[in-house]
Amino acid sequence: PVANSSERSIGRLVVVSNRVPVPNASGAPAAGGLAVALQAALRSRGGVWFGWSGKSAQDAADRQPQTRSLGPITFAVSDLTRRDIEEYYHGFANRALWPICHYRLDLANISERDAAGYFRVNEFFARRLVKLLRPDDIIWIHDYHMIPLAGFLRELGAANRIGYFHHIPWPSPDTASALPCYDRILESFSAYDVVGFQTVPDADNFRDCLIQSAAGRVGADGVCEAHGRKFLVDAFPISIDPDSFALEARLAERNAVVKRMRVSLEGRAMVIGVDRLDYSKGIKHRLEAFAAFLENNPDAVKARVTMLQITPKSRSEVPEYARIQREVAEEVGHLNGKLGDIDWTPLRYINKPMSQAALAGLYRLARVGLVTPLRDGMNLVAKEYVAAQDPNDPGVLVLSQYAGAAQELKSALIVNPYDIEATAAAIARAVAMPLEERIDRWRDMMSALRGNSIDHWTNKCLQAISGEVEAEGESSLH
Ligand code: G6P
Repeated sequence: PVANSSERSIGRLVVVSNRVPVPNASGAPAAGGLAVALQAALRSRGGVWFGWSGKSAQDAADRQPQTRSLGPITFAVSDLTRRDIEEYYHGFANRALWPICHYRLDLANISERDAAGYFRVNEFFARRLVKLLRPDDIIWIHDYHMIPLAGFLRELGAANRIGYFHHIPWPSPDTASALPCYDRILESFSAYDVVGFQTVPDADNFRDCLIQSAAGRVGADGVCEAHGRKFLVDAFPISIDPDSFALEARLAERNAVVKRMRVSLEGRAMVIGVDRLDYSKGIKHRLEAFAAFLENNPDAVKARVTMLQITPKSRSEVPEYARIQREVAEEVGHLNGKLGDIDWTPLRYINKPMSQAALAGLYRLARVGLVTPLRDGMNLVAKEYVAAQDPNDPGVLVLSQYAGAAQELKSALIVNPYDIEATAAAIARAVAMPLEERIDRWRDMMSALRGNSIDHWTNKCLQAISGEVEAEGESSLH
């Protein structure tokens, strides 16, 4: 979707992320909307996808780069030592950056050792990556694991255009400044040419951080200046391919998992939640809201409305995640014990990951999609749920005001996820919503999705990173 002559002239694309979807031995590329879109961009320009292998090496000397090529794309990954993984990934990325960017100062773990490991691993990646670069490559770095990477690349002489996209929220300065090495992190951003956030409020928060740090200046056109460099800061809301997801959902009516689910429901209405098992997702609050909905609505108990919560475990080595896993499991047991019956389990709770096809079909089957994170950069489940609906009989999305997706999906039932009774009332409203209102709301949301598909997002980001925006006079980025 991104190939044209001007793009070819600016050279290859180099994508960098902590996780790399290296194709398996049979060459099958990984599924997932973002991975598919980035691979399409890489295929049309040729390029490299660089990052961590996800594995540990015995010691530093074993960290040889591993590469695999699939047509014009080379996947290049490196192992990290156990210590690197502990400090960089489990430590600084997931116990400092993640909670603080999600406004959870109470869960942040401040450790100088982890911070040093984070910068050390980024420098290691920069040394590896710089050897693979050509002068006209454009480089697109993804997410909070890699914020300092461009700075190290610049130190090593890379003069390429480099963009960064932050997939998670960026908090206001009073919260962001709780980050260990806050000033150094903030300075790291000035090595980029473009810094992208999910939403306008996130981009505004970041600009406020720069202004308050006294090191930066912010122009009215979104161009910031700090530490002797100019860079564009803007919102680029990520999305999905709504029409291909809709098709997948329609075809998935025949999927075996979806069929089993449909049969087991025996006509009862289903409410669905799908999240990684993460404290930012508000799963405990959501379960309580569903329980309150049942307690407040005897008819829903009679109709045996059932909630399916699919929640693959995530980052289990991190203590805060181990704790939320125990707490959610306990809550599910408690609520099913309290509300269930000999022939009805109100909450079906599953830790297994599911294929995208099965999820698409389950979304379509669900009368209500519950997407109620306490904080979320975007949340693509919200968008996928909408795209998966039957246009003639769509379900209703209940969406947290604290998900980035709420900036676009204004026709969802927007809730404060901390307000259990209000969320319960929104579930009741969604279950009872007349067909006409459901169709109106769904159409609004689907047209918002069609106006900003993942290909559109990829193109806008790449145009900005390659510096084509001013040349084309495109004003929407400013
Ligand atoms: C979020 C982050 C991604 C990350 C994913 C899975 O979506 O924004 O960067 O890859 O979670 O987390 P994990 O720690 O397993 O990579």
